[in-house]
Amino acid sequence: MRILLLGSGGREHAFAWKLSQSLRCKKLFIAPGNAGTNTLGTNLHFVATDFEAVKNCCIEEKIDLLIVGPEEPLVKGIVDFFKNEDQLKNLCIIGPDKFGAQLEGSKAFSKKFMQRNNIPTAAYKEFTSENFNEGIEYLQNHNLPIVLKADGLAAGKGVVICENRLEAIDEFSAMIKNEKFGDASKKVVVEEFLKGIELSVFVLTDGKNYVLLPEAKDYKRIGEKDSGLNTGGMGAVSPVLFADELFMQKVKEKIINPTIAGLKNEKIDYRGFIFFGLIKIEDEPFVIEYNCRMGDPETEVVLPRLKNDLVELLMATSNQQLDKITVEVDERAAATVVAVSGGYPGEYKKGIPIFGMNEVNSADSILFHSGTKLKDDQPQTDGGRVLCVTSYGKSITDAVEKSKSVLQKINYEGMYYRKDIGYEFE
Ligand code: AMP
Ligand code: GLY
Repeated sequence: MRILLLGSGGREHAFAWKLSQSLRCKKLFIAPGNAGTNTLGTNLHFVATDFEAVKNCCIEEKIDLLIVGPEEPLVKGIVDFFKNEDQLKNLCIIGPDKFGAQLEGSKAFSKKFMQRNNIPTAAYKEFTSENFNEGIEYLQNHNLPIVLKADGLAAGKGVVICENRLEAIDEFSAMIKNEKFGDASKKVVVEEFLKGIELSVFVLTDGKNYVLLPEAKDYKRIGEKDSGLNTGGMGAVSPVLFADELFMQKVKEKIINPTIAGLKNEKIDYRGFIFFGLIKIEDEPFVIEYNCRMGDPETEVVLPRLKNDLVELLMATSNQQLDKITVEVDERAAATVVAVSGGYPGEYKKGIPIFGMNEVNSADSILFHSGTKLKDDQPQTDGGRVLCVTSYGKSITDAVEKSKSVLQKINYEGMYYRKDIGYEFE
């Protein structure tokens, strides 16, 4: 099987790592990839949203399976683009079409979908410039804090939690009137604040059946004990100890099953990953958001715990044969710790040489690149999140300790990572 993987982060390095272990993977291309993916396949020099370049590559390289890592190409309709190409009708693509990708691409769409299908989520209302004044009145009577969400994709910045009504009104106006997030904030979802503990649950669905993948918890804030600014993710652990059997049963019954049934009833042809961003309040699960792809850095702990052949799983997804698959999970815990550039998530420099990566030779640890590139065979930083180390362990704490000891051997100017990933599980 000839495979093309789109994306360039730690998630894609983890995908490339897992795909390249499959006997069915004959040739692996990654576009654009990073210095890590290049050791497992061939990096190509185009970006995932350049559909023409993706198409030409699929034709020239006789690609059988296309895996879309990030959300943007899905939300922009890469699956639909390929469905309309005669030459590529038989290509298997992992990811929903444009309509299905609205589960992530439009907060208003996903909230309505949840409402129609009785899926537990925060109460909400949506507003545009048309009912702007009604929105202001709604905010004036809303309980605090107030959650404002730009409807469309906003590079992870579109959710603002406001502690008082004045701030909420200012933010609401900036989003709708000043188009703070461009077209993405022409519509705004105003949502009730949910207080609880978050976790990420992943399924692969073929539109009829689904398989549950290991759950994970990510750590979004830059500072220890979840303080400071939001980031793309500073670490992740799996399993999530508070997601016990009883709780996961509720997740299936109240959230996953009605979501899959809803997709089927609404004739949404969804063959790909669904990432449920959940919150546990007392013992009940609620959906904070859907994503139409895997999480980053969650993938870096989920795939290492997955024992199945990933190519087989993805082919079963594309062929609607997931009912024939049983997912097997490594019993060990896995944790990943992300090292970032100095200054991230604010301004940071790129092109800083990274040393010590060849020192990683522990059987229990895997180094994944996130934002790196090679210059004259020397790896350099090329993003905010630079690399992450995933380790297996007897416990979450054990796995985190192993990752931290590997990170001590790596250095680059400005390197920073959180030392407290998994702190609640000590
Ligand atoms: P999102 O960009 O949708 O992933 O949201 C970013 C983060 O905002 C989530 O991971 C939550 O921590 C937080 N969040 C979103 N919606 C709510 C809500 N209704 N109540 C509390 N926190 C929320
Ligand atoms: N780790 C959260 C995300 O991938 O959106």
